[in-house]
Amino acid sequence: MNTQVLCSLVAVGLVTAPARTSPAQPDYLDAKKPLETRVEDLLSRLTFEEKISLLHADAKFTTAAIPRLGIPRRWLSDGPHGVREDIGPDSWAPAGRTDDFSTAMPAGICLAATWNPGLGFDEGAAIGQEARWRGKDIMLGPGVNILRTPLGGRNFEYLGEDPCLSAQMCVGYIRGEQAQGVAACVKHFALNNQEYQRGTINVEVDERALREIYLPAFKAAVQSGGVWTVMGAYNQFRGQHCCQNDYLLNRILKDEWGFPGLVMSDWDGTHDTRQAALNGLDLEMGTGKKYDDFYLARPYLEGLENGEFPLAGLDDKVRRNLRVMIATGVLDPTRPAGSLNTAAHQTVARQVAQEGMVLLKNENHTLPLEVSKLRNIAVIGQNAIRLHAHGGDSSGIKAFYEITPLQGILNRAGKDVNITFSEGYGKPGGADLASRAIAAAQSADVVIYVGGLNHDKGFDCEGADRADMKLPYGQDELIRKVTAANPKTIVVLEGTIVEMEAWRDEVPAILEAWYPGMEGGNALAGILFGDINPSGKLPATFPKKLADSPAHALGNYPGTNGTVTYQEGLLVGYRWFDRKNIEPEFPFGFGLSYTTFEYSNLKLVPGDGTTEMLTAQFEVANTGAREGAEIAQLYVHQKNATQPRPERELKGFQKIRLRAGERQTVSIRLDKGAFAFYDADRKCWAVEKDEFQIEVGSSSRDLPLQGDFSNLHALTF
Ligand code: BGC
Repeated sequence: MNTQVLCSLVAVGLVTAPARTSPAQPDYLDAKKPLETRVEDLLSRLTFEEKISLLHADAKFTTAAIPRLGIPRRWLSDGPHGVREDIGPDSWAPAGRTDDFSTAMPAGICLAATWNPGLGFDEGAAIGQEARWRGKDIMLGPGVNILRTPLGGRNFEYLGEDPCLSAQMCVGYIRGEQAQGVAACVKHFALNNQEYQRGTINVEVDERALREIYLPAFKAAVQSGGVWTVMGAYNQFRGQHCCQNDYLLNRILKDEWGFPGLVMSDWDGTHDTRQAALNGLDLEMGTGKKYDDFYLARPYLEGLENGEFPLAGLDDKVRRNLRVMIATGVLDPTRPAGSLNTAAHQTVARQVAQEGMVLLKNENHTLPLEVSKLRNIAVIGQNAIRLHAHGGDSSGIKAFYEITPLQGILNRAGKDVNITFSEGYGKPGGADLASRAIAAAQSADVVIYVGGLNHDKGFDCEGADRADMKLPYGQDELIRKVTAANPKTIVVLEGTIVEMEAWRDEVPAILEAWYPGMEGGNALAGILFGDINPSGKLPATFPKKLADSPAHALGNYPGTNGTVTYQEGLLVGYRWFDRKNIEPEFPFGFGLSYTTFEYSNLKLVPGDGTTEMLTAQFEVANTGAREGAEIAQLYVHQKNATQPRPERELKGFQKIRLRAGERQTVSIRLDKGAFAFYDADRKCWAVEKDEFQIEVGSSSRDLPLQGDFSNLHALTF
């Protein structure tokens, strides 16, 4: 095959790279050569214009091919719950294809609620395989912004309120995905904690909270996950947009953390050529201009030509783009081909859903339900039949199918029990719906109420925050009426955090199901009918009322005059509730099981005192009558710190599966990072010579094991 023919095949995507056996094979095509050798070789072959073409989009989700060198078009795709339907090329309208369905995984907050990094790996791997099948090179996820306010419109996509949990959960996902020859993209860097004025809001936060709360998941994504791409956030930080923020991108991400990959902008998150050129942006996407007019297109080229910007800066950006391309196998024939919607992928979707659902209340063993003891079940509530996978905006998935709660319940119990459905709420003229639901409740043995939120604008959806923490559509009143009609009402909530004060004492059981993806209904039925023992735990505090949560208590949400100041500093989520002694509705880390666990015998074994500080060993026993999984959590508190430190901070956890009666020793290793705070004056992490309290248990508010650890030598790093 001559080079020209080969190049055109590459360009149309029929082959991925020239044959490796060609005698004249250049270094950059030789998969055996070291990555940096390949990058430098390819860099040296690019013209000035070709280099520029790699730094910006040529359609909504692609960058230009360079056919003469066998560089194909790069395809990017959302992220993070599966491979999004194809968009564009030049607008946000769907491309209208019929081959762009994919497996819809549960929302990020549900994955976080599994507290199972291994499942994160499985989910990342499944999405990576589907991305390859769909021809994608970079997947725009995971999203790891910290849940600062329950109102955040994208809280459902993210991994909760805690830096340790979100860090561990994103690392597994990234590794799984990238093992498939796809680059992950951790987003949105950084401080994109609200949707209100997301494109302009300026975030002011002190250095400790930045380092200790808002950055750890990103740092872990880079240093432990090896993530290849990072997406800048829409908002500003300390007066500069995050996609062109010198401090975040150049100083922290690249200099301090040694990030070797590329920084891309969020779509239309670039605002200025000079800042984009100099402050660390490597790939500009989604700007509302003609592609040639993008800030990193012609204007950047002109600035390079007239000497305004150094050529070394251009090469650095190009290198980063090439590095990601080559590292993910874009130029190699051995790149995995991927697979789509396999049984294994469906199993992962179901597993994440069933491990992520959180049982919040279960009085008198209301759950699990026994089919043989039931004749009539009334399923009530619009979310029992509502499809969610396609909603929420950029994270929506065109799912192959979606098992709704009602379908799942029918699949599981429909043969043996009479199941009726009434919508209860959600349509105009709701009074009639409500009265029919109440009548259905009266004549049933048990009611399964499935309500909560949905992805409509203003609820769990990109682009806006929620107006309040209340259940919409008059559901508080409806639940009270349904429960009055039938006290055996199980409330299943889909969506993120809502207020439950109006009815939580009336109902015997509450299950948080988040957005559980396309196998969600089956997973839910598995839990309701006891095939699955629930094991999820809350990745965020559920306040009794909005005013209890820090940003709202302090009145510093959503900001004034375009700036939001995070006055609560480190006291985000449970750190605030613990400090202020506020009783939450359900605490961080909380979740019930159908069995019971007992903790005993905490031993603290000192490590080398420099890197490995301590191993905490303890026993967990399953003291109930059935197998179950427990998430053992370890929190650290420094006793006499010279700087303010939270009452307790999650520093380790482990999910363990135990048969009835079984007991297991759990070991959690803590390195120096678990004891450190960020010393803003000295610009480093510091561990003080002091006593630390270690607490272990089943939630942030149930920590039966406690011990003290003395650190004998101060450390900085
Ligand atoms: C979102 C990103 C997303 C991008 C592309 C933006 O509006 O903030 O998360 O990846 O669009 O769809």
